Amino acid sequence: MPYSNILVERDGAIAMLTLNRPKVLNALNRATMDEIVDALEALDRDEDVRCTVLTGSGRAFAAGADITEMAGATAVQMLAGYRLQQWERIRKIAKPIVAAVNGFALGGGCELAMLCDIIVAGESARLGQPEINLGLIPGAGGTQRLTRAIGKARAMEMILTGRAVTATEAAAVGLVTRVVPDEAVVDEAKAIASTIAQKPPIAVRLAKQAILKAFDTTLEGGLDFERNAFYFLFATEDRAEGIQAFLDKRAPTFLGR
Ligand code: CAA
Repeated sequence: MPYSNILVERDGAIAMLTLNRPKVLNALNRATMDEIVDALEALDRDEDVRCTVLTGSGRAFAAGADITEMAGATAVQMLAGYRLQQWERIRKIAKPIVAAVNGFALGGGCELAMLCDIIVAGESARLGQPEINLGLIPGAGGTQRLTRAIGKARAMEMILTGRAVTATEAAAVGLVTRVVPDEAVVDEAKAIASTIAQKPPIAVRLAKQAILKAFDTTLEGGLDFERNAFYFLFATEDRAEGIQAFLDKRAPTFLGR
């Protein structure tokens, strides 16, 4: 699929997906969402890719759903549309995604960042759920993921007032992983992605899945999943290689088998 709203590049085992509608602060219209989902699923199937960095061009990560596109929409059209199913498809991406949040991550932009697994933010980044100002509420997971990330009281304040938080505030409450100078945000995200890319891919995939279980199952269910995944990894060649390399005092070579 040729893309006109995003850029996809490869650097070895790292893929870089850049939202590329800077004139409208990378607002997530339907075409852009289609391309994001298509690209992430293609990268997920590509055995040579081990981790993706997601960022935005210009002065925003993404300023949310495209408000002009939503302007004339009816409730029935929104219900009948497949927009929210696209977010579910992003949720199911198995390989890790590192968000490099440059500038604004608002509304659907903040929700997209929260769907990523690790968030690196530039120091001037602003994250928020301003939908209340449009007579709406977050519609792509914000009420649930933000609350799980930062707790009820803080999520209430952000969503009910629409106030965007600074990168520093976001890091203090665990919404982002770390804050770096603006010019370093993509390099830092790539460095994290590169470290992950050197790890055994099956273990990485199962670790991601197990951590995400903590959001949607009971402690017992999550522990059961973790234990079974742990046992399963004893069947992989990478587990044998990892342990042997430790005993041999050499660096392991992981092949994803
Ligand atoms: N949709 C469509 N266009 C958008 C947009 C959006 N979400 N955000 C910004 N733009 C456009 C602006 O209309 C403007 O276009 P023009 O140059 O043609 O006028 C351009 O991007 C630049 O934006 P501003 O001139 O507004 O830039 P600014 O620096 O003054 O303000 C901003 C930046 C505070 C991010 C402001 O643009 C803004 O508030 N944007 C909307 C943020 C928002 O409400 N997001 C939530 C959307 S709803 C949603 O996401 C629902 C969901 O949960 C899925």
